[in-house]
Amino acid sequence: NEIKIFCPGTVSNVACGFDVLGFCLDKVGDEMIIRRTSKKGIYITKIEGYDLPYETEKNVAGVSALALIEDAKPDCGFEIEIYKKIKPGSGIGSSAASAAGSVFGINELLGRPYNKKILTYFAMKGEAIASKCEHADNLAPAIFGGFVLVKSITPLEILQLPTPDDLYVTVIHPQIEIKTAEARAILPKEIPLQKAITQWANLGSLVHALHSNDYDLISKSLHDEIIEPYRSQLIPHFSDVKKAALKAGALGCSISGSGPSIFSLSKGIKTAKDVEVAINNIYKTTGIEFDMFVCKIN
Ligand code: HSE
Repeated sequence: NEIKIFCPGTVSNVACGFDVLGFCLDKVGDEMIIRRTSKKGIYITKIEGYDLPYETEKNVAGVSALALIEDAKPDCGFEIEIYKKIKPGSGIGSSAASAAGSVFGINELLGRPYNKKILTYFAMKGEAIASKCEHADNLAPAIFGGFVLVKSITPLEILQLPTPDDLYVTVIHPQIEIKTAEARAILPKEIPLQKAITQWANLGSLVHALHSNDYDLISKSLHDEIIEPYRSQLIPHFSDVKKAALKAGALGCSISGSGPSIFSLSKGIKTAKDVEVAINNIYKTTGIEFDMFVCKIN
């Protein structure tokens, strides 16, 4: 009647896949304990780590859980304890980890009445209150794992992509907060056709590269000429970090989600750690607090 779950962080957009592509991190994430109660409803009973609302209707984990129980109409309620480790506004899917975690856990306690796609649909209701729009490029990887392409939101269509075995990610998280809603508001409403052509060519070739384990093609595809030029202005020393990562051997480097985190993909853990050292050398001179980690994509 109680379940403890790990709610993974995720990197969305992955350079050329704005709002449609993401991947899951293997050891960075929140924890949640969900307990069945005789009183119906959803109750957030504990939040540790960061200051987030306890009111169910204002909490992303609460809102997604409500969407699930409105459909399932279980004969019980649920208490949720949230142990937040991913800082809100970090760009590695903090709200998605909470939104996905509550529905995943409740589904387990109910005997798995829903599949992962439907869980993603419920979780989108929670994610929407954090980012003011429904997108699933963090949620779907948190629920499915690995690389995931969100082909469509309405109707929801999700494609799981293969993850090359030797692919690692290095993430730097400067300790400044960028709200997704604000990072979306600065984006252009229209884009030049030539840039769109480059972007969908890169996204297509990245998907092909994942299927064919082609690290060179991953590297050639990891570019974003549409979103990164705008959002990178919100991230101190972005271009120095990117230059250092590429020089240290990264396959590519771009903004994680809506920032401020920056991710670099590398072939092999050694290169990923070299990239970590190179970026650390840049950022430690800036006076801005930050943390870093290297993860396998899982
Ligand atoms: N795709 C979204 C964005 C993810 O970049 O705005 C942020 O959570």
